[in-house]
Amino acid sequence: MHCVRKITEDLYWIGVNDRRLALFENIHPIPRGVSYNSYVLLDEKTVLFDTVDWSACRQFLDNLEFVLNGRKLDYLVMHHVEPDHAASLQEILLRWPEVKIIATSKAFDLLKQFGINTDHFEEPVKEGDTRCFGRHTVTFFVAPMVHWPEVMVTFDKTNGVLFSADAFGSFSALNGKLFNDEVDFDRDWIDETRRYYTNIVGKYGMQVQTLLKKAKKLDIKMICPLHGLVWRSNLEYILDKHDKWSRYEPEQKGVLIVFGSMYGNTERAADALAVKLTEKGVKDMAVYDVSSTHVSTLIAESFRFSHIVLACVTYNLGIYPPMQTYLHDLKALNVQNRTFAIMENGSWACTSGKLMTEFVQKELKNCSVLENKVSIRSSLGDAGEPALDSFASAIAKSVNG
Ligand code: FEO
Repeated sequence: MHCVRKITEDLYWIGVNDRRLALFENIHPIPRGVSYNSYVLLDEKTVLFDTVDWSACRQFLDNLEFVLNGRKLDYLVMHHVEPDHAASLQEILLRWPEVKIIATSKAFDLLKQFGINTDHFEEPVKEGDTRCFGRHTVTFFVAPMVHWPEVMVTFDKTNGVLFSADAFGSFSALNGKLFNDEVDFDRDWIDETRRYYTNIVGKYGMQVQTLLKKAKKLDIKMICPLHGLVWRSNLEYILDKHDKWSRYEPEQKGVLIVFGSMYGNTERAADALAVKLTEKGVKDMAVYDVSSTHVSTLIAESFRFSHIVLACVTYNLGIYPPMQTYLHDLKALNVQNRTFAIMENGSWACTSGKLMTEFVQKELKNCSVLENKVSIRSSLGDAGEPALDSFASAIAKSVNG
């Protein structure tokens, strides 16, 4: 049974949803699934844009055969050869042995490493190269490190479609709705889109900025990414989000509180802080337990908020391990331009505050730590309230100016 969507008169989405995969890249939980998007253009030549993960191959082949309707497949454009898009390529070559692959030179190198027969390779594509498939003429633009070094995107001048590879993608399966104007994006999609971007491409902000600058010069009518929704309206919205994320600018002024608590005392202090911040006029805030929240969510929220409170116990004379993991990912994903506030706890030899402060100051770019800190010995108690109040005032003042 095929499951396809018509995008324009001669362009089809033939992707597949995956709701069985628990961890994307075997790291990131995807409770709402993910889609592997693939597209077919029926011009004088037939052109397939990317394939899908091996686990989705059966549905993908049904879709492709349905849309081709007996025509042969002339070209396969591979924007990105990570196996979630390239694993089904072998099967395409078996079924359509005359197909020619269009990709960058780096992509061909990687495809060889993955064992693909080079007989199918066309001349490698370079920046600005064009190709005419009949009515449609496309231009290729390289986009290295968005998300791998071989990545390119394709702009179809005839219909204004940008095939954007991983850029502008999202976690979450498509539940019958392919286009951004068919969903309530702010309600149902923004969180998974942010979590996808920040964890998968977040490290490569500079390279995304380069791509955005190229995109600005094009008359884009539609964005077709490799995961998630196809954007055919309100393109400024999603372009602006990616501009902010890739410049590491917070989306909103507000406070993210991440606490690491063994027996609940640090959690109670974090909760009391959240109440005080609300009473002092901080409107946007989120509180997470570092032990029970997947770090991909913490990273996404770190890209969202301007201020981050690290509230953490001391463990083996160091930082509580789950908090250490979060800090490591902040650095790995290049989070910068944030203001931090530190709340430490330790029953003896309390070191977590000093260590977290040093980490932020030495390892994260353009991040500051508020001078006002809270240091807890086992539990805060009512005697600690003035210090907490002063801490909350300093944070609220920094947020609201
Ligand atoms: Fe969706 Fe980088 O692969």
